[in-house]
This record gives sequence, C-alpha cells and structure tokens, in this order.
Amino acid sequence: MTKIICVTVFSFLLSISSFAQRNCGQQIYLEQLQITHPETKSQIIEQRKQAQLAAEQYKESLKMASTMKTTGTTVTIPVVFHIVLDNTQIASIGGTAGIEDRINTQLISLNKDYNGLNADKSKIPAAWASLYANVGIQFGLAVKKPDGTSTPGYDIRYATTPSTFTDVGSGCSSAKTYASGGLDPWDNTKYLNIWVVNMKYGSSTVLGVTAPPGSSFPSAEKGIALYYLAFGTRTSASEAFEYNIDQGRTLTHEMGHYFYLWHTWGDDGGLCPSDPGGDDDGIADTPPEADAKYHSPTYPLYDACSTTSPGVMFMNYMEYTDDTAMYMFTKDQSAVINGQIALLSNSYSLTQHPELAKVPTYIPTIGLSEQINIYPNPTTGVLSIKFNSDSNVLTDINIINLLGQRVLNISNPQSNIIDLSSLSKGIYMVQCQFNTGTITKKIVIQ
Ligand code: ARG
Ligand code: ZN
Ligand code: CA
Repeated sequence: MTKIICVTVFSFLLSISSFAQRNCGQQIYLEQLQITHPETKSQIIEQRKQAQLAAEQYKESLKMASTMKTTGTTVTIPVVFHIVLDNTQIASIGGTAGIEDRINTQLISLNKDYNGLNADKSKIPAAWASLYANVGIQFGLAVKKPDGTSTPGYDIRYATTPSTFTDVGSGCSSAKTYASGGLDPWDNTKYLNIWVVNMKYGSSTVLGVTAPPGSSFPSAEKGIALYYLAFGTRTSASEAFEYNIDQGRTLTHEMGHYFYLWHTWGDDGGLCPSDPGGDDDGIADTPPEADAKYHSPTYPLYDACSTTSPGVMFMNYMEYTDDTAMYMFTKDQSAVINGQIALLSNSYSLTQHPELAKVPTYIPTIGLSEQINIYPNPTTGVLSIKFNSDSNVLTDINIINLLGQRVLNISNPQSNIIDLSSLSKGIYMVQCQFNTGTITKKIVIQ
C-alpha cells in the first residue's frame, strides 16, 4: 500500500517536472557547457557585460559608422533550415510540402515579431505599451548556397528511424555534423543556421536550444536547434504541433538568445536580482522576476520579486509561456539585439549579405496604411519612391506592363531611386511590396 502511494506521488511529481522542464533547452546547454568548459562561465559573464555596453552605445547611437545599423533602419539576415528528421517525422508534418509551408509561415511570424507587426501586440497591458519594441530585423530565406548555386533555403537529411537527438547539453551538436548523422552548417558568418530536429532531454521534449556568436560557444554549434513540432505556425486544426506551441514563437525566443537575450527571470532558480547570488536578465525595463512562468497567465501576475502592480512581464518573448501568451520584446531588449548587430562583428556580418536572402511576403489581414508617392510621373526613366519608412519595409518593387507581365523586379531595394530607362515608352504599373502588404501605382514612361 505504502509502495503504491509512493509510486503514485512519485509519478505525479515526475509528470509535473517533465512538463515544467519541457522547454528548458537553453538552461541545460548552459549548465553542461560550464561543466565541460569551466572557462565558459566567466566568458559568458564577460559577453553579457559587452552586450550591455553595446546596447548602451546603440541607444546613444555613439561611434557608429554610417555602414552600421542605426536606429530605425531595417537589416536583412539570410536564414537556412537544415531538416534532420526520419520518414515518419517528415510525414507527420506533411512531407516536403508541409516543410515548405512551415518554413514560410515560420519566417512570416518571425518577421512580424521582429518588426512591430504581430497582431497580438494589442494585448499588451497599458502599463507596458510604451515599452513595445520594433526590433527592425528581417529574416529572409537563403536563395543561394555558399557555393553560389541556387537553393530553396533548406536541405533535408533523411535520418535513420527513429531519429532522436539527446545531446541538448552540447547544443544538439550531433544534428549539426554530417559525420554524426546531421547536416553541416553553412558559413555562419553569412547565414543564420537553424536545425529542425526531434530533440529530447531524457523523456522531456526540448523546444529549442541556441548557440549564439562569440567565443563562449563552440563554433561548430552556432545557430539554433528547433523542435520539429514547434516550428512554423498552425494553418489548420489537424496539423501536428506541440500543445500550445503553434504560433512560431519558439524561434522568436531562440533568436532572442542568439542575440544575447536571457530569460526574464535570470535562470537563477527562483532568486530575485537583489538576493545574494540572484541573477536577472540585465534588462532595465523588464520587471524583476523570480522564476519562469508557464501557460497563459492572467494580468496582473505577481511573484516574489515583483509584488506590486504591474507585476511580472509574463508576455515577454523571453518567457516560458504559451505561444499565444507572449507578444513583446521591450525597447531595452531591442537595444541589446541591435547592439549585437551594430557593434559586434559576429552578428554584424550576417546583415551584410541581403542578396543571399528572400524575405517572404504575405497578404496582410489589416489594410495597409502606407502612403506612397512616386515621382516624377510621367518620367523619362528615373523614378523616386517615397513612403513612410517608420513602420513599413519595402521588400520588392515589381514593374508590370499593360499585359500584366512583370518586366522588372528589384528585391530588397537598397535605394528609393530606380532607373527604368531601359524600358520602352508606355504605361506601367509600379507594384511596391511591403512587409505589410502591396501598393500599386500607374506610371508613364515617355
Ligand atoms: N526552448 C526555449 C528555451 O529554453 C523555450 C521557450 C519557447 N516558448 C514558447 N512559447 N515557444 O530556450
Ligand atoms: Zn530560452
Ligand atoms: Ca529585468
């Protein structure tokens, strides 16, 4: 009898803890790194300090060369997906067509979250509304391989059945090496590598684990390993996803780690920043927090470190809440991310190859408020396109003739002046594709 009670209690605790730990990939990785490479601990402390300094400098826009990212501009980073799954797993997400669909929906949701466009930002409590950040980074699917040949932006390794990667403590490095059953990274100074795998730590599912640039993480491990049922966004009820992890937010969160953001509670086992040995995320505008928050809390939510209104910011992307319960980065978090890009060469170099990337376009659910002005019209060839660049990013310009044929495409335009003097005289449509929608205007070349 005693035995049975014991077993029951024990398995109850086990199920609680395995649920609670299902997404602790980053903590497992950091703990393991500090055991295998003891020097990592001080390196990470140093790197965090530098990230803060970079963020401060970014905020003051000091010492930034004109080629670097400045406040309000948007940069593009090429992303490649390495799919390392067995046939059963691939079938469960809809085969190659399903993979392509998840890649596309994943990049769209990631771009919304990093460009101030996620619709659920309307749920941010008034107390924090002014902290919501438009980070200003676009992620585009790789269109060229490192050798210059074309690519759909992903590669697939049909792993042996059953394929499970358990080395979360080394950032899932076996999935990142061909020799150990995975796929090798592409040049990680130009591409941000994402591996889509079945990851487990013991019997627990791990949603993601990230090795950011810089010296504290082994070079071959750099990039993000993503659980294959936490990747992409749900477009129909029947699709297979981890429970409540179907809005693409795992990648939003892991990308935060990639740019040196830490969990909002500081991974210190429940202490407050003011306690001896207590840690914090180092971010001034996220409230102090004791431990991770799960599921979908109701605002306001208090804990031992934030006992008064507005409480803890459980809706932050660097939390452990459900995908529909997280919807913001703060301005200080954005400064850390942008500081990495503006001032630290490892992330900066990723932004210098927009020609390798294609940012997916999507049909907006809300009307585009953009006003554009194209002049002179009529023109003899050179046209200026003016728009309100604060909120929208021009991703493509298409010139379409009266037969509806596209006669010119400029992808990720780097200038708002375009030269159409190579086209014959006549009437054309200029289709401007923004990240939020498309506007078309008629022009005359004479
Ligand atoms: N795997 C993440 C980490 O430990 C967990 C967060 C993902 N949360 C989510 N709602 N998708 O780094
Ligand atoms: Zn995390
Ligand atoms: Ca904080």
